[in-house]
Amino acid sequence: MLLPDRARVPFVSVENMARLVHSIGLPLALEELAACIEADFLRWDEFDKTPRLASHSVDGVIELMPISDRRHYAFKYVNGHPVNQRRGLQTVVAFGVLSDVASGYPLLMAEMTLLTALRTAAMSAVATRALARKDARVLALIGNGAQAEFQAIALQTICGIERVRLYDIDPAATRKAAGNLRAAGLSVTECRTAHDAIEGADIVTTCTADKKYATILSDNMIGAGIHVNAIGGDCPGKTELHRDILLRSDVFVEFPEQTRIEGEIQQMPEDFPVTELWRVLSGRRPGRVSDQQITLFDGVGFAIEDFSALRYVYDRMQGTDFFDRLDLLADPDDPRDLYGMWRRFGTG
Ligand SMILES: NC(=O)c1ccc[n+]([C@@H]2O[C@H](COP(=O)([O-])OP(=O)(O)OC[C@H]3O[C@@H](n4cnc5c(N)ncnc54)[C@H](O)[C@@H]3O)[C@@H](O)[C@H]2O)c1
Repeated sequence: MLLPDRARVPFVSVENMARLVHSIGLPLALEELAACIEADFLRWDEFDKTPRLASHSVDGVIELMPISDRRHYAFKYVNGHPVNQRRGLQTVVAFGVLSDVASGYPLLMAEMTLLTALRTAAMSAVATRALARKDARVLALIGNGAQAEFQAIALQTICGIERVRLYDIDPAATRKAAGNLRAAGLSVTECRTAHDAIEGADIVTTCTADKKYATILSDNMIGAGIHVNAIGGDCPGKTELHRDILLRSDVFVEFPEQTRIEGEIQQMPEDFPVTELWRVLSGRRPGRVSDQQITLFDGVGFAIEDFSALRYVYDRMQGTDFFDRLDLLADPDDPRDLYGMWRRFGTG
């Protein structure tokens, strides 16, 4: 029998998500999230995987990201509307659900706007730790919007980044990120061009938002030995790198079936060679093999990362008051008497 509370689903609001992460500490939360993502990538074959379902419109995209490991099921609702910024709205907002596969009952509903920024940063750090040169200390961060600080702090915490060079077409975004990142203990340089930003960088992360094939990085900007995390190109028709960079790089992806539709490699033929990151993490395939090699993580965001993040929040919120209970599921005394339950709401 299901306990009555099974019908009142734990809900983590934006405020509670922020409080939960504060109570853990952002660096530790990012480290723990990265560990959860890596552990789930290492059991890749246990997941029932599918590319996300996208509904495109003139201004953006709304996506559903389902995944299951046969014990838990998760999905995330997420949008991508670069135009929102001009409307005073966020480019990306999200929420998600974690469910018990055995009963089909949701175990958790959570805001995932903040959680997506955290898991995307943790994912970049997992890829960077596996692929960047071990002596990498300088990050160029191009696109200084909502994701930016989380990206930098994850690389600071997990990969030992000490200096960040920032560039955004909007200097106000760069000023905002610079203030936040100095407060987090990073040495920050505000740059006037993308060229200037990548000067002396060991790692380049692009997280810009534009609904078109953009060229944030051109071929001449990426020298030997650099690791690139390209995370802003995550939708058909939306890329950040000149294709010539891909030709000179070893490209690593999450789930090729999705990345070939959404990632930087959508610019390339269907048989363009890529390596699935889980194979590198599990030691089946090499990652970086020389200091001269250019490694590129073509990150589009895959459902396993959200599954890991929801599982992490579910575990971490136990024993805390960082959630409410939602009257989300009908709970008649006799499971077959849904009608009788409805009738009682009409009396008195
Ligand atoms: N791969 C993933 O898992 C993942 C997860 C979340 C978001 N994203 C993507 O990352 C990108 C950034 O997301 P966000 O929430 O930070 O968006 P945002 O709108 O808050 O920030 C984007 C920033 O990019 C800047 N920008 C746009 N064009 C630029 C250019 N040519 N050069 C330099 N800067 C430029 C904008 O001025 C803005 O400050 C989006 O494209 C989003 O879809 C990817």
